[in-house]
Amino acid sequence: MLRLTSAGESHGPALVAILTGLPAGLLLDRAAIDADLRRRQQGYGRSPRQQLEQDEVEVLAGLRHGKTLGTPLALVVANRDHKNWTWGMSPWPPEGEPHGKGTKPVTLPRPGHADLAGVLKYGHDDVRNALERASARHTAVHVAAGAVAKALLRELGVEVAGIEVEIGGVSGADEMRAAMDAAKSDRDTLGGIVEVRATGLPPGLGSYASRDDRLDGRLAAALMGIQAVKAVEIGDGLDLARRRGSDAHDEIEPGLKRRSNRAGGLEAGMTNGEELVVRAAMKPLPTLMKPLDSVDLATGDAAQALVERSDVAAVEALAVVAEAAVAWELARVATEKFGGDTIGDLVAAHRAYLDRIPWAPR
Ligand SMILES: Cc1cc2nc3c(=O)[nH]c(=O)nc-3n(C[C@H](O)[C@H](O)[C@H](O)COP(=O)(O)O)c2cc1C
Repeated sequence: MLRLTSAGESHGPALVAILTGLPAGLLLDRAAIDADLRRRQQGYGRSPRQQLEQDEVEVLAGLRHGKTLGTPLALVVANRDHKNWTWGMSPWPPEGEPHGKGTKPVTLPRPGHADLAGVLKYGHDDVRNALERASARHTAVHVAAGAVAKALLRELGVEVAGIEVEIGGVSGADEMRAAMDAAKSDRDTLGGIVEVRATGLPPGLGSYASRDDRLDGRLAAALMGIQAVKAVEIGDGLDLARRRGSDAHDEIEPGLKRRSNRAGGLEAGMTNGEELVVRAAMKPLPTLMKPLDSVDLATGDAAQALVERSDVAAVEALAVVAEAAVAWELARVATEKFGGDTIGDLVAAHRAYLDRIPWAPR
């Protein structure tokens, strides 16, 4: 069973992920992982922090000469910005006079962020103790894990790709940029919608046997696990609720081909052999340069929320993060079905299954 554990604060020394359950012998390409990390950082509405970071993956364990060993794979993405926060984000009691960033407690919770509920829940008197982990910075290491998952899926002929389809209610590159420019000049933020598609998936990944086995539920949980994602749609999703049955399903033709793909490649919690199509909706980012009303937790008085360097929109980044989350979940469900201690075992079991069923990749 593939598992992923991550740790790391936004301005701490580094982000860490440990991936267990990977088969041995999977060839990884460092440049491909770093390319996905760069894709996550690019995007029109992002803050200057992205230029500062230039993420790269380091591997501390589980890999030898580019091939997995079948042991836990330890990935690290350093936070280059930590050099400006060494006192403020020191894991141990800091020495010397306070210097750099993060030296003063934050007491102005931002509506829409982890700040208020986070400090109440964990008993913090500095909002930073909540926001540092709640921040989406650690999606970087999840993107690295997603690149590993994509390498595994590629061995099975599966490709996964995410793209932004709407930002601030408009689609089309020029319109999206114009919306972000307008929001920036108003010191406001935007959300949007991303779409992830996966091709080459055989029918029968996931199951209707139990609620937890349903791949539609697992994909929804994976996507809703990403910061700021507030809705997930599979295939024609919400729109299906407004149609008749005769206009909602995908009729089957000889050769087991479908006339349409309204189900988005999933029926009864299983892949059905068609392209997987899922969408995730992101709310506007909660850190506004023109801050929302809040309360100063130190005094209880009305105040304006924290203003910290922040993106206008991160929908393009979400497309990469969502792609990684879907890839990870698909790699999990594929390894559950096909198993094996080596990548060769996995590929052989996949091949034997394809030989048993009348389905060919399309
Ligand atoms: C890739 C990505 C980048 C984000 N960047 C920011 C940001 O710069 N500023 C911000 O306020 N929120 C940002 N967020 C959203 C917050 O992390 C999120 O709204 C917050 O953690 C509260 O969680 P919730 O929105 O799921 O309720 C980003 C989210 C993602 C996925």
